Amino acid sequence: MELQPQLLVIFGASGDLMKRKLAPALLRLAEQGLLPEKFAVLGFARTQMNDEDFRSNLEDSIKTTPKSDAWNWLRERLFYCQGNYGDCESMKRLQECLRQIDGRMKLEGNWLFYLATPPEVFDDLVIGIRESGLNKSQGWVRIVVEKPFGNDLESAQHLNRLLWTAFDEHSIYRIDHYLGKETVQNLLVLRFGNTIFEPLWNRRYVDHVQITVAESDGVGTRGRYYDLAGALRDMVPNHMFQLLTLIAMEPPISLDADAVRDEKLRVLKSIKPLEPEEIDENVVRGQYGAGEVNGQAVPAYRNEPYVNRESSTETFVAIRLFVRNWRWEGVPFYLRTGKRLPKRVTEVQIQFRPVPHLLFPPETAGQLKPNLLTLRIQPDEGIILRVETKVIGMGMQVRSTPLDFYYSQLGTPIPDAYERLLLDAMRGDQTLFMRADEVEAAWRIVTPILRHWENSPPPNFPNYSAGTWGPKEADELLERDGRKWLTQ
Ligand code: BG6
Repeated sequence: MELQPQLLVIFGASGDLMKRKLAPALLRLAEQGLLPEKFAVLGFARTQMNDEDFRSNLEDSIKTTPKSDAWNWLRERLFYCQGNYGDCESMKRLQECLRQIDGRMKLEGNWLFYLATPPEVFDDLVIGIRESGLNKSQGWVRIVVEKPFGNDLESAQHLNRLLWTAFDEHSIYRIDHYLGKETVQNLLVLRFGNTIFEPLWNRRYVDHVQITVAESDGVGTRGRYYDLAGALRDMVPNHMFQLLTLIAMEPPISLDADAVRDEKLRVLKSIKPLEPEEIDENVVRGQYGAGEVNGQAVPAYRNEPYVNRESSTETFVAIRLFVRNWRWEGVPFYLRTGKRLPKRVTEVQIQFRPVPHLLFPPETAGQLKPNLLTLRIQPDEGIILRVETKVIGMGMQVRSTPLDFYYSQLGTPIPDAYERLLLDAMRGDQTLFMRADEVEAAWRIVTPILRHWENSPPPNFPNYSAGTWGPKEADELLERDGRKWLTQ
């Protein structure tokens, strides 16, 4: 589908997201000829710069790509406007820049605002956009909102209400970059483009589901944000619940944005928020102490830059929850995420039930493992189905054999999530963005846990060493059910 002429206005354009994600994604889109001829990017931020500084800064940060025709094409479409977020004078200046560029380049009043700033200024920006009338033009106006979308249910509801004073829901694009990942979208194709999985995809055949998002990195330079957020807020209501909903949802009636989002919402609504007295037995939190990751000594979380030396922020969380509906009743979903774990891996594991009746002699039967479907989101993206096969020879020994597919076999590079999401926002497709009710339903599940933790500070932090798979309580969470974590 050809894109309409448009102006992408990026708030926070001097920041990290622009350099690391948005500019490289725009360049890749330009290289593939996917951007419209009539297109411009207007960066807005507090840093003093002119157009030329803005262009050279980005050029420096996109070091890996040699200067190409695509970069030159994009470069001359980059503009910059300096100002304070939400301040009247600045908004006027922005409005002038915007109208000038729009008029000169014939962008037909199609404006895509992108909030890539820290969340503290979202309110001011939305109010500023509304008060200066930038939410109305002769074309369409859309707004992309980066995460974090609120920090609990109340703040997410507040932000939704504020956004609705300036935009209607169909113009609001709440980003969760996990949805832009090729392998996450493939979950839809795997489930609904094949017939063999769907009949098994329920409580009759599935024993339990595990979702692991493990990171070997620490908090890096993001301590200031992270120490206020913590692992639960940072990863669960967004990325992990997106994976969970795509795994657990019913087939949507079509791939339309609302049809897909309706089904995801129903999954979230089927998860009963935990009562305070259920939280300790179903949720484990952890914080890393000093340790070793990939052979390198690394400091404890409390010694990371910008982190409170007595911080009780969790860097690890594991949750056991149930999707209470006809399909999934009684099937536990175990979610686990953390920083400074032994390696970076994101995986969904669907473990099927054991065979109902053992035909084999006892020594063989003991070797039989239940089938396991692994959906590897990253790295080594792929799909692996564990099946039991006979060991060649005269006896009746069995072993597990993987039936596997890796994306790398295709030889086609996997695009970055931001390429897909930017393109979708530009073409007006909301399927891979979160709807207001979805975001709120996610916070409704997570907020009671946050509140419970606020009232009972962790007694034993740090409780896992960097480079290990989290606190022992996370293992016990599964051991109590006679299970163990499968991603190692
Ligand atoms: C971000 C979190 O949203 O996702 C980070 O704020 C986390 O803390 C990151 O590291 C993980 O994303 P990815 O794509 O590297 O798995």
